[in-house]
Amino acid sequence: MNRDLAFPPGFQWGVAVAAHQVEGGNRNNDWWAWEQQPGRIHQGQRSGRACNWWEEAEADLDRAAGLHLNSLRLSVEWSRIEPQPGHFEQRALQRYQQILQGLQQRGLEPMVTLHHFSSPLWLAEQGGWENPETIDRFARFVGHTVEALKPHCRCWCTINEPNVYGYMGYLEGVFPPGKSDPAAGMRVIRHLLQGHAAAYRQIHDLQPEARVGLAHNMRILDPARPDAPLDRWAARLLDHVYNQAILNSLTSGRWSPPLGWGPVPGLAQTLDWIGLNYYTRDLVAFDPGQPLCVRRFHAEGAELLDGGYGEFYPLGLYRCLLRLAELGLPMYVSENGLPDDNDDQRPRYILAHLVQLWRAIQQGCAVRGYYHWTLADNFEWAEGWKLRFGLIELDPKSQERRPRPSAALYGQIATQNAVSVAQIERHAPGLSGETTLP
Ligand code: FCB
Repeated sequence: MNRDLAFPPGFQWGVAVAAHQVEGGNRNNDWWAWEQQPGRIHQGQRSGRACNWWEEAEADLDRAAGLHLNSLRLSVEWSRIEPQPGHFEQRALQRYQQILQGLQQRGLEPMVTLHHFSSPLWLAEQGGWENPETIDRFARFVGHTVEALKPHCRCWCTINEPNVYGYMGYLEGVFPPGKSDPAAGMRVIRHLLQGHAAAYRQIHDLQPEARVGLAHNMRILDPARPDAPLDRWAARLLDHVYNQAILNSLTSGRWSPPLGWGPVPGLAQTLDWIGLNYYTRDLVAFDPGQPLCVRRFHAEGAELLDGGYGEFYPLGLYRCLLRLAELGLPMYVSENGLPDDNDDQRPRYILAHLVQLWRAIQQGCAVRGYYHWTLADNFEWAEGWKLRFGLIELDPKSQERRPRPSAALYGQIATQNAVSVAQIERHAPGLSGETTLP
């Protein structure tokens, strides 16, 4: 009997990237400006040439195709396409057309994200996503972009991770604009969701066959002491605020507190699919000394990921997918990965997460594809070049690349459209015991 874990026919195996993290030379956005400020980025590092995609994305597309992937998630950079308000740069759109044609030629089905954290400087100067006018400006940008790129793309991701954007930029203050203002954070997330809804309509007007969704970051937030009612309360509160309020708002068309109250015209029914970006989990304890009376930490004795990134917790992928399945929509794992310079955890991480993904599919979850974050090490926002998420190691100075062993492993999985028992036995012995293999 073949005990390999087969994925559905046509399953999309991809990698995910974002414009500012790979293109290089994005001088006209808020992130570039942020990188010039002392103390903002790990060791004062900068995106610089990043992975040199603006010049040479094709070289990495060859590498992705060489791994037998059949899909790729990338984003477009608003500040290149609309460098000044209302001025749309045809050369930038042509370059994106060329990149998307490059995907097509290599058998890589594109998923294009329209907003992945970075914004044009002119927009940031006018208040960015705090300003309600940004909703219409985004829709206008989306209209021009989709009109130009629709011959080459049908699967659109409007916005990447509204919760991370709001949290990092407006609570933690580690992304631009570096604020610590919860009310502004909630306003920003509301505007992002309204921007999503406006983009959804705009795209469908221009391309009726488009499939439009959004990438939602979910963390597992478990009570530190499951039998302590206050820990359970704290975990539920945080889970609602971080994971659930956005989903409730999108599905019901009413703001779910703390985002706001009351109906949101046009928000319901604006998802053709939902993307899950899953990385890790936290434990949550009630702690009156902390904001919201909530403290987050890693489980004692848990296997941790590099650079304090979090806990190695593959079951979380299964739990998130089962939860998202309640929306009744097709799903993608639009990001999943880990920082791991020497690749000592990545092969096992990939296999363990794919086993959980496979289990979720067996349970009836309509998952259409998996995008590993990421192809080659890229500029990891405030962490600079410290966290190495790539299947391929990159030296940003010389631009030299060296595939890590997990690149070949992931390539084999994509080729087989299955995880084999032999791969598990070789790279993740013991894994079969933790999960129910057929
Ligand atoms: C996600 C972001 C992506 C990358 C990964 C590691 O939250 O969407 O750009 O930074 O984390």
